[in-house]
Amino acid sequence: MNKKTIRDVDLKGKTILLRCDFNVPMDENGNITDNRRIVAAIPTIKYLIENNCKIVITSHLGRPKGKVDLKYSLKPVQEELSRLLGKNVNFANDVVGEDAKNKADKLKNGEVLLLENVRFEKGEEKNDLSLAQKLISVSKADLFVSDAFGSAHRAHSSTAGVAEFIPAVAGFLMEKELDFLGTALENPKRPFIAILGGKKVSDKIGVIDSFLDKVDTLMIGGAMSYTFLKAQGYDIGNSIYEPDKLDLAREIMKKAKEKGVKLMLPVDTKVGKEFKPDTESKNVSISEIPEGWSGYDIGEETIRIYSDELKNAKTVIWNGPMGLFEFDQFADGTN
Ligand code: 3PG
Repeated sequence: MNKKTIRDVDLKGKTILLRCDFNVPMDENGNITDNRRIVAAIPTIKYLIENNCKIVITSHLGRPKGKVDLKYSLKPVQEELSRLLGKNVNFANDVVGEDAKNKADKLKNGEVLLLENVRFEKGEEKNDLSLAQKLISVSKADLFVSDAFGSAHRAHSSTAGVAEFIPAVAGFLMEKELDFLGTALENPKRPFIAILGGKKVSDKIGVIDSFLDKVDTLMIGGAMSYTFLKAQGYDIGNSIYEPDKLDLAREIMKKAKEKGVKLMLPVDTKVGKEFKPDTESKNVSISEIPEGWSGYDIGEETIRIYSDELKNAKTVIWNGPMGLFEFDQFADGTN
C-alpha cells in the first residue's frame, strides 16, 4: 500500500482525531452483542497511546439522522473500549459542545477521549465543513487518523471533511483492509466471487461496475435482488425494490453477460406477511411470491446453490446482508 499510515509520521506530542467505525450491534438494553469492530480498532489506539499521543475518537452508531437520540449513544462503546484497553476512556456527552471541549482540554498525553455519536450532529452526513472544522478545533487535533474502514465509502464531515484541514493518515485497520482488498482486486486467486447484498443497487453501482471487470461470479442477495428480479419481469409482491433502477439492473445483467461474468440471482425467497420479527413466513420460488407478501431473505434452495458455488471460490469479497438479518427468522441467508 502506498498510502501513509501512522507508522510513517512523527506522532510525538501530537493530538489525534481518530475516526473509528464503532457501529456495533446492540440489544434493546444497550448491550453490545458483537464487539468485533471495537476489537479491530485496538491496535491503532494502543499504538497511539504508546506514542504518547492525546487521542480523541469519533464514530457514528446507527442512523439517528442528525438528532440526539440516546438509543444510539456511544456510552456502551466507551465501557467496552475501556475494558478492552484495560484503561479508562473518557467520554464526552456531546460531539462538539461544551462537554467535548472541556474534556478535550483536560486530556493528557496517552489518554483517550471518545466523543458522543457524531451523527447526532445534522451536518455530519452532509459533509458540512464547518462541523469538520469544529471537530478539529474542539479536539485541538493536529493529525487525522482514518481507521473507519466500514464507513470509508461515506463522505461525511468526520470521515472526509476533516481531512481538508489537517494532515491525514491511515490507521492499522484501514491499512490491513486496503492491503487485503488491493491484493484481492489486483491479483485475485480464482475463482473470484463477489457477494453483494443490502438495499440499494444505486448505492453499489460503482462497486458492481468495477467488479464486473474482475470477478468470475457476482452473487446478488438482499433487498437489491428484487430490483433485478423485477427487471426480469417477476412479480415480486410487496418486496422492496427501486423502480427507477430497473434499467440500470438490466444494463448490469447485460454487461455481466458480455464480460462472461456469472451473475447469480435468488431462485427462491423467504417471504413474510408483515414487517415484524414474528410475522408469518414461508419459503417460495421467486415466481410464486404471493400478492401482498415481501421477500425478506434468500430462500433455502438459493442458500444451497450459493453455498455450493462458494465452496470452490479462492477469493470472496462480501458486501451487504442477504436479507433482513435483524429479524432472526430472516437471518439464515446472511448467516
Ligand atoms: C456499516 O455498518 O455499514 C457502517 O458503519 C456504515 O454505516 P451506514 O450504512 O449507516 O453509513
